[in-house]
Amino acid sequence: MMIRPRRLRRTPTIRRMVQETHIKVDDLLYPVFVRHGKGEREPIRSMVGHYRLSVDELAQEAVELFSLGIPAVILFGLPNKKDESGSEAYARDGIVQQAVAAVKDRVPELVVFTDVCLCQYTDHGHCGIIRNGVVDNDATLEILSRIALSHAEAGADFVAPSDMMDGRIRAIRDTLERDGFKDTGILAYAVKYASSFYGPFREAADSAPQLGDRASYQMDPANAREALKEASIDVEEGADIIMIKPALPCLDIIHQVRSRISLPVAAYNVSGEYAMVKAAAQKGWIEGNKAMMEMLVSIRRAGADLILTYFAKEAAKLLFEHEKLYAEK
Ligand code: PBG
Repeated sequence: MMIRPRRLRRTPTIRRMVQETHIKVDDLLYPVFVRHGKGEREPIRSMVGHYRLSVDELAQEAVELFSLGIPAVILFGLPNKKDESGSEAYARDGIVQQAVAAVKDRVPELVVFTDVCLCQYTDHGHCGIIRNGVVDNDATLEILSRIALSHAEAGADFVAPSDMMDGRIRAIRDTLERDGFKDTGILAYAVKYASSFYGPFREAADSAPQLGDRASYQMDPANAREALKEASIDVEEGADIIMIKPALPCLDIIHQVRSRISLPVAAYNVSGEYAMVKAAAQKGWIEGNKAMMEMLVSIRRAGADLILTYFAKEAAKLLFEHEKLYAEK
């Protein structure tokens, strides 16, 4: 007798029955870039299909996203002006604060996450305050807490610190509790590597460091044990969701973190992962939709509960078509 695994691959319907991992639209978060102005929909060169939206356009977009079944957005702001301490990041009428309020006003059920960081807002492009030529951890914590609080005041459901300073989850949690925002959640960019796959984002958000790199605060991609340490610290400090970033080069890390902690685990399918697929598909070298689904399913298979992805809209449409196809038969 020969053992024949191919029996289970014989027809599309059999394959559908034995499929182990599924992508659900419920698991997807859509990142959006917001800018000042009105009626603005400025295409992002490095990220085909993505735009820097003004607040009114974003509100419109929110309606579409929710109608596609996408449960959540994560907002990234582009300020009017940058300065040494990134002051627009915590301004009451800052771009993200306005954007959160507008989305919550138009589509209250859409879950709004906000990226809490300084790199888009500082003139030097680093994710913290610079003192004596270095990114000063403890001085940055105060500012991060102010940013998070201002996002909570604007109505954000979750704040998502992406700076990689030590102690920021506790600092933000304490600030939110003290000021009465006990229901505002924290999605921690717990395991964030110093990755070259953030390139297209830095063009989109105009956030590249003017001097040096981020290696003194983001992690070395060669380290796995350190990822487990970072994840458990953020759990202890009060995070609600733990994130790993980037996703594709870190499937092993997603798997290990998932098996060790009980909080939901998110993975960020970052700008470079998106742009590579788009660029190769444009050249006709790969099938874009198939590559997208294979990527997303591999991230789920590794153990991510949630995926932040620039593909969320396209994936949602494809999943919807798939459902309809079988409903009609
Ligand atoms: C801000 C931030 C970055 C990303 C998310 N938040 C850029 C960086 O750390 O340089 C990258 C997201 C992406 O590439 O899609 N610190």
